[in-house]
Amino acid sequence: MKKVDVVLGLQWGDEGKGKVVDVLTPNYKVVARFQGGPNAGHSLHFAGKSFVLRTVPSGIFRDGSVNIIGNGVVVDPVALTEELRQIEAQGIDVKSKLFISKKAHIILPTHRMLDAASESAKGKSKIGSTLKGIGPTYMDKTGRNGLRFGDVLAEDFIARYERLKQKHVDMLAQFNFEYDITEYEQQWMAGIDYLRGFRFIDSEHEVNRYINEDVAILAEGAQGSMLDVDFGTYPFVTSSNTVCAGVCVGLGVAPTKIGDVYGIFKAYCTRVGSGPFPTELFDEVGEELRRIGHEFGAVTGRPRRCGWLDLVALKYAVMVDGVTSLIMMKADVMNEFDTIKIATGYKINGEVVDYFPYEVNETLEPVYTEFKGWKCDICGVRCYEDFPAEFKAYVEFIEAQTGVPVKIISVGPDHEATIFR
Ligand code: GDP
Ligand code: IMO
Ligand code: MG
Repeated sequence: MKKVDVVLGLQWGDEGKGKVVDVLTPNYKVVARFQGGPNAGHSLHFAGKSFVLRTVPSGIFRDGSVNIIGNGVVVDPVALTEELRQIEAQGIDVKSKLFISKKAHIILPTHRMLDAASESAKGKSKIGSTLKGIGPTYMDKTGRNGLRFGDVLAEDFIARYERLKQKHVDMLAQFNFEYDITEYEQQWMAGIDYLRGFRFIDSEHEVNRYINEDVAILAEGAQGSMLDVDFGTYPFVTSSNTVCAGVCVGLGVAPTKIGDVYGIFKAYCTRVGSGPFPTELFDEVGEELRRIGHEFGAVTGRPRRCGWLDLVALKYAVMVDGVTSLIMMKADVMNEFDTIKIATGYKINGEVVDYFPYEVNETLEPVYTEFKGWKCDICGVRCYEDFPAEFKAYVEFIEAQTGVPVKIISVGPDHEATIFR
């Protein structure tokens, strides 16, 4: 193989990446996160238990797995410590299975405050950020002010921390933002101390050593392509490159070393937070998708906005990511629907376009293709041939439109509810 395979969300996040990585891990020794941070919430269900992973790669529960937090990730010591303690409580020896890149940037307590201050200053035009400090931390990274995990080992780490914190305190004063980080800062220091017990690695060297030794590696994306800072619905995006190219810079993998690219999408669409969502439904169908699909944030609990599958956006993500296999999730949520729609174009100023435009605003109207619902429970299906004809028509239409095969279909949160083709 000698390449890194990639799992990515193709929509606005929460496509089911956690489940898919967990299903695919028997085939991989190494699972690596390459961007994002605790804004992610990846749900795993197995053996009657549920977990939500935020910074830790979804391979952590597999025996003998190596899990890497890559240089492109931003890490909150408090959130990561909390997450690792919960995993440890399951009898998992996290210290032998999790490795943190020395080049991964650290989220400071004041980064979270800056996130909150910036959002409240934006008022109505707020991004709907998860308020985990993601944006401000990436700003300090590109602004060349950030603190990295490798710095934790330096003698003057606390002095460096204080310097950056003071800069943030001055900025927060300009925002006129009131806050108290006393308690969080104590937890943060305790988190740093706990994490000192882990191996901080030169992850680009380790990842490339695995590649050269032909060890199977899976890169696990967070968020989704439509939240990418360059290609998403800017400015309503996250602050990292969620697209496939993010693997190269977030792990130190050359473009020629990218192998299979698994693009995950829901059979419909969801989005949390603000920003354009052309196929959003404000009627009872949207309500049904939310209710049946339990579409509430895994971390924040916020209701997710729901709508029909958007092929215009999906084709755009497939193009930018170079997707080689599609994975369709959660079609089971639409089991009872009489009619199911897919947007195949956008009407802009009376003209129908089939590409994702620079500006997506309220004047844009989706153009739909309608499908007859399958009207039966597909949750128990385990082989593609056993799906109803209406369901197969839906899948094969998506394949024809994107030009990419749907290799895996998920019809429930558990491992077993997965069909390989
Ligand atoms: P991620 O952020 O991409 O990992 O996705 P989330 O975990 O935030 O959200 C996906 C949700 O859908 C989780 O609650 C999963 O347990 C659930 N889920 C995943 N696949 C399926 C499926 O095929 N059918 C149903 N009904 N639920 C699913
Ligand atoms: P996973 O990995 C869904 C959204 C937020 C907000 C925008 C910016 O679970 O799919 P940020 O905190 O990054 O500044 O928020 O991005 N967002 C997500 N939406 N799933 C996620 O992660 C998300 N991570 C961030 O709701 O609109
Ligand atoms: Mg999620």
